Amino acid sequence: MDQEKQTQLLSVRNLKKYFPLKVSWLKAFSKERSYVRAVDDLSFEIKYGETLGLVGESGSGKTTVGRTLIRLESPTDGHILFEDVDLAKISGESLRVKRQHFQMIFQDPMASLNPYMRVGNAIGHPLKIHHIGNKSERKMHVYEILNKVGLPPEEFYNRFPRHLSGGQRQRVVIARAVITSPKFVVADEVTAMLDVSIRSQILKLLIEMKNELGLTYLFITHDLASAKYICDRIAVMYLGKIVEIAKTYDIFKEPLHPYTKILMASVPVPDPKMKTKKFIPTGEIPSPINIPSGCRFHPRCPYATKTCSKIEPELKDVNGRLVACHLYDQNGKN
Ligand SMILES: Nc1ncnc2c1ncn2[C@@H]1O[C@H](COP(=O)(O)OP(=O)(O)OP(=O)(O)O)[C@@H](O)[C@H]1O
Ligand SMILES: [Mg+2]
Repeated sequence: MDQEKQTQLLSVRNLKKYFPLKVSWLKAFSKERSYVRAVDDLSFEIKYGETLGLVGESGSGKTTVGRTLIRLESPTDGHILFEDVDLAKISGESLRVKRQHFQMIFQDPMASLNPYMRVGNAIGHPLKIHHIGNKSERKMHVYEILNKVGLPPEEFYNRFPRHLSGGQRQRVVIARAVITSPKFVVADEVTAMLDVSIRSQILKLLIEMKNELGLTYLFITHDLASAKYICDRIAVMYLGKIVEIAKTYDIFKEPLHPYTKILMASVPVPDPKMKTKKFIPTGEIPSPINIPSGCRFHPRCPYATKTCSKIEPELKDVNGRLVACHLYDQNGKN
């Protein structure tokens, strides 16, 4: 058990993040306040050096998980154990000190770069904030990292973001995120705004940086092909819950949860003549304000039974895999 504990960088227990809905001041003090239950009781681990993928439809709570793990949001409840410190319970200076171990890379590199800051200064900024090195040491470090991300420093150090291509901007953002050698990086849809031809280069760069600097990633994406390429394990989210977690190979070979099956069926097949079995979800993803009773996926699930509308399934071990679905009750497949 202790040995297992040592392999976990992050251990998340019963994490919740609810956003209160804006209401008129008359209702503000009522006990019946409504919440967006964006993250609704998640427990999972992230091992040292792994890339855990987080996939699921828009609005399922992926970004909120990433932001809450690194305390850009305060959790409503639960624990985020990071090297024996519960990030959910700290604030002020203790949180500031821990923050240098985390970074987040966002979808839109242009929006996350200051248009008036030159590339070299932008990349060196986290070193300055965390008082790492003197001016010339910081500059040397920026030169090194620019070389690592494939942007020759002589050419790029003094450029402004507007004079870069989308792929080059994302390289700058990655360089800035990894320059302090953080322990944990949340990469949120980092290739979504890039041309398909550039995507694989950026994924390769993320893998290179991970191997060289010993990073651990939470890789959030809509793009299952990218997840398949980069992730060691994948967690599937539906309406604030994780419905399945498995090794990437296993989840693509044999998805267990009906929702995962639907997601996998949406991955384009290289051979257009090849027929895939399509599971079409009926209806729209429900609102995270009025979450369906029982299994929250039951209104759209082709296999739903009466139990599914009444009892919420737990994420549990099914032949060595973790899945939250009544189809697998009694530890076996139906
Ligand atoms: N600051 C906030 N205040 C209120 N509601 C929020 C806030 N941030 C997120 N939400 C809501 O929480 C839910 C989950 O949002 P989130 O952005 O985490 O989903 P996502 O899975 O990342 O979606 P996408 O794939 O579109 O990026 C959504 O219903 C969203 O509207
Ligand atoms: Mg998101």
